[in-house]
Amino acid sequence: MAETYDVVIIGGGPGGYNCAIRAGQLGLKVACIEMRGKLGGTCLNVGCIPSKALLHTSHLFSAAQNEFATLGIKTGKVELDLAQMMGQKDEAVEGLTKGVEFLLKKNKAEYIKGKGKILGKGKVEVALADGGTRVLETKNIVIATGSEPATLPGIEIDEERVVSNTGALSLKAVPKKLVLIGAGVIGLEMGSVWARLGSEVTVVEYLDRILPPADAEVAKEAERTFKKQGLAFKLGTKVTGIEKTKTKLKVAVEPAKGGAAETLDADIVIVAIGRKPYTEGLGLEAVGGKTDKRGVIEVTDHFKVADGVWAVGDCIPGPMLAHKAEDDGTAVAELIAGKAGHVNYDLVPSVVYTNPEIAWVGKNEEELKAAGVEYVKGKFPFMANSRARTNHETVGFVKILAEKGTDKILGAHMIGVGVGEMIAEVCVAMEFGASSEDIARTSHAHPTLSEAVRQAAMGVEGWTMQM
Ligand code: FAD
Ligand code: NAI
Repeated sequence: MAETYDVVIIGGGPGGYNCAIRAGQLGLKVACIEMRGKLGGTCLNVGCIPSKALLHTSHLFSAAQNEFATLGIKTGKVELDLAQMMGQKDEAVEGLTKGVEFLLKKNKAEYIKGKGKILGKGKVEVALADGGTRVLETKNIVIATGSEPATLPGIEIDEERVVSNTGALSLKAVPKKLVLIGAGVIGLEMGSVWARLGSEVTVVEYLDRILPPADAEVAKEAERTFKKQGLAFKLGTKVTGIEKTKTKLKVAVEPAKGGAAETLDADIVIVAIGRKPYTEGLGLEAVGGKTDKRGVIEVTDHFKVADGVWAVGDCIPGPMLAHKAEDDGTAVAELIAGKAGHVNYDLVPSVVYTNPEIAWVGKNEEELKAAGVEYVKGKFPFMANSRARTNHETVGFVKILAEKGTDKILGAHMIGVGVGEMIAEVCVAMEFGASSEDIARTSHAHPTLSEAVRQAAMGVEGWTMQM
């Protein structure tokens, strides 16, 4: 006998589990189907959380080796225990996935382990992880199936020597030579981790610059800084093949615009050229759902695929970020409950968790120029910030862009230690439609790094304190 739900969610990542929790809080009868065996999706299991755990510990390792002595801290020989480092990462993941399971239970959302398939309007079949199938009847279906790594034609990912983000987070030894394909977010974060642990890292990027969605001035500063940290970049370069010998990988590369080919030796190659929506075996066609050429599910501006069918997170348009997926999921639960749910994609912040961090929100200079919008720029370097000087962490700057005439903030672009936290201030200000003067006149504690945000805003007004 089929059971009836208000909402059945397919996928237990940030999009799915936030939708389930909010739906439960709103009194809806909800089930969340997840096939991975653990809740939390890409983010908790093989994305945000394990990568940040390794970024944190590899940073401490590198600081202990290279920075402590200059700060007057003497250590003995600093040694790496990779198994322990991986263990603490797995512990963080385990604790958080269990936490999500607890939250589902607490909010009366049922967790069903298995693979979900849409049979038609209001009907979802689950191939249960323990065997057998179960058909759920529901008023609403929410697709939250997320994404998977994009692949390069002719390059097979074996997750041992040629790896995606999943393998990159669990290497068994520090590779002597590591090649990363793609100088995007994963390329820079995972490149940083393994370079700090001792790998010789080369990042091959098709475009002439790193980190394509970032403001060009920020990307340039980042490239300069990462080079100093030992990362080598081959920009404007494409990988044409990887030959696997018994002991080595031979990565064939050539200039993207044509030219002489060369071979890079590597022990491990990480492929990080973007991600694509995952909708395999979902049965989207059973409800008339459509995808574009890249496999992105088409939705209305309020997440509707068809009558009674919704989609959220990485499998729909918008930035492929966990907080965006969370916001989508929450909004859909609220819409289903008859409330107003909306997400402002123009103000989703991006953070790259390297050292220094990179963060931005809103429009960058290139976008404003292309749109013909006149703006005023305020920029403040961390070299002139007292807290950054005290901490000997002076790389980078904060840049604020405001509309000429109205002073409304249009974007903020930062590189520096701690900017991943500092960007939130500008997000809140922009959500409230603030002017740059609003930030400039707001008291900021001294000495803090966030004074650089205030000073950049003062720069827009023409009264920065910069020496
Ligand atoms: P997912 O998290 O991918 O979850 C979808 C879930 O659905 C999966 O668990 C999958 O098993 C399940 N599923 C799929 N099909 C079915 C089916 N038919 N039946 C049952 N279950 C199904 N974002 C950030 O904001 N900050 C970061 O620091 C960050 N770091 C990242 C680092 C890496 C290495 C990677 C790869 C990604 C990172 N991201 C980060 C991106 C973030 O992980 C994603 O944006 C986020 O996980 C998307 O959430 P989602 O719920 O849409 O999809
Ligand atoms: P990405 O889109 O950030 O970067 C991919 C890079 O690969 C781009 O610079 C692109 O020009 C390049 N590229 C594409 N094809 C190529 C080719 N054939 N040869 C060489 N270079 C090529 O994608 P990435 O790094 O794989 O990450 C996927 C997504 O995961 C991100 O876009 C982001 O949404 C999410 N993510 C977010 C993080 C965060 O928020 N801190 C951390 C890691 C991932």
